[in-house]
Amino acid sequence: MLRLLPRLAGLAALILAAPAVAQAPAPAGPPRAGEAPNGLAPTPPMGWNSWNKFACNVNEATVRATAEAMAASGMRDAGYVYVVIDDCWHGPRDADGFITADKEKFPSGIRALADYVHSKGLKFGLYSDAGRHTCGGRPGSQGHEYQDALSYARWGVDYLKYDWCDTGARNAEEAYKLMADALRATGRPIVLSMCEWGTSKPWLWAANVGNLWRTTGDVIDHWEGKYDYSWGVVSIVDLNEPLWTHAGPGHWNDPDMLEIGNGGLTNTEYRSHFSLWAMMAAPLIAGNDVAAMSDATKAILLNREVIAIDQDPLGVQGHRVAKDGDREIWLKPLSGGRQALLLFNRGLAPATIAATWAQLGLAPNARLRIRDLWAHRDLPRARESYTALVPPHGVQMVVLRP
Ligand code: GLA
Repeated sequence: MLRLLPRLAGLAALILAAPAVAQAPAPAGPPRAGEAPNGLAPTPPMGWNSWNKFACNVNEATVRATAEAMAASGMRDAGYVYVVIDDCWHGPRDADGFITADKEKFPSGIRALADYVHSKGLKFGLYSDAGRHTCGGRPGSQGHEYQDALSYARWGVDYLKYDWCDTGARNAEEAYKLMADALRATGRPIVLSMCEWGTSKPWLWAANVGNLWRTTGDVIDHWEGKYDYSWGVVSIVDLNEPLWTHAGPGHWNDPDMLEIGNGGLTNTEYRSHFSLWAMMAAPLIAGNDVAAMSDATKAILLNREVIAIDQDPLGVQGHRVAKDGDREIWLKPLSGGRQALLLFNRGLAPATIAATWAQLGLAPNARLRIRDLWAHRDLPRARESYTALVPPHGVQMVVLRP
């Protein structure tokens, strides 16, 4: 029998307290307590970001090709709408202090690229940094916050990822609030992604500042472990999971972008990566070369049944309810009285994992319907428990409903 973890007790109260889903951007003005200040991201943002695959080698042609592939592959229609250019798009500031684009990489300029992305039915995002320089050594926004926000709004930016390199002794909450105010002052709805790596515990203050906050250092395309500033997928999970009570509509824990399709893990491991991100209501930001992805990668990123778990309007982050060595049981409450259940085998041998209704806080004799989200089929109804044989580093992911 797997050990029941104590956090389950607070779950019922949390579900009752979950705020209603915002339907439309709130008008500019001060946020109300517990509400995302800009009314955006009622469900975790989905899209693509250039960093994991292209790092500083991103350019206009790559972004255009990606936008085309996002539309043609079905990614856009599955919900991946934000196309975000990460670090290294910047040129110097002009004589008046306005930021320019790197002329070699982005010869047509950012406005034209944003227009092109919008013409594909997608939204457009950029990256900056709260310090003097970005992590890649380009100009940061410190001292230019209002000016940069104005440029972004003029260009048609819908999403800003705001990093934390070269910030010296800056106070993170103040620095992020300043940029949030500058974005709000433009009048354009812009999602604010706060990338301060969890250093000052943003989960304690950032819900009223922006829409998502990184909880860890950078993800790397490895299964587990720490590598300088980066962490393997499962190590990120262990850092992000305990923060589940802090997430909700408009304000999400961000365990960093997806590595699916980048080649470091097996497809079984990538399925686990995707399933765990969905259980954690994480932003689903693809980080692969979408224009050249394999059918196997596509089948993972485009699994709409798993995406629906991530995007469930209740907006409760799932978490681990039981653990016995390598065998874990995760639960995510969903709208309509349903539950997503994940059986996760971290070990190197196949493992039988059983979840009892008692462990999940469900009535023991409830006869529940079970839907397998990776096999895309209904399983026989079950009473009292559900058991599956789970492959090494793999998951079994199902939805339970009355
Ligand atoms: C930091 C961030 C990454 C990425 C790089 C870009 O490391 O955490 O996500 O944006 O900077 O330089």
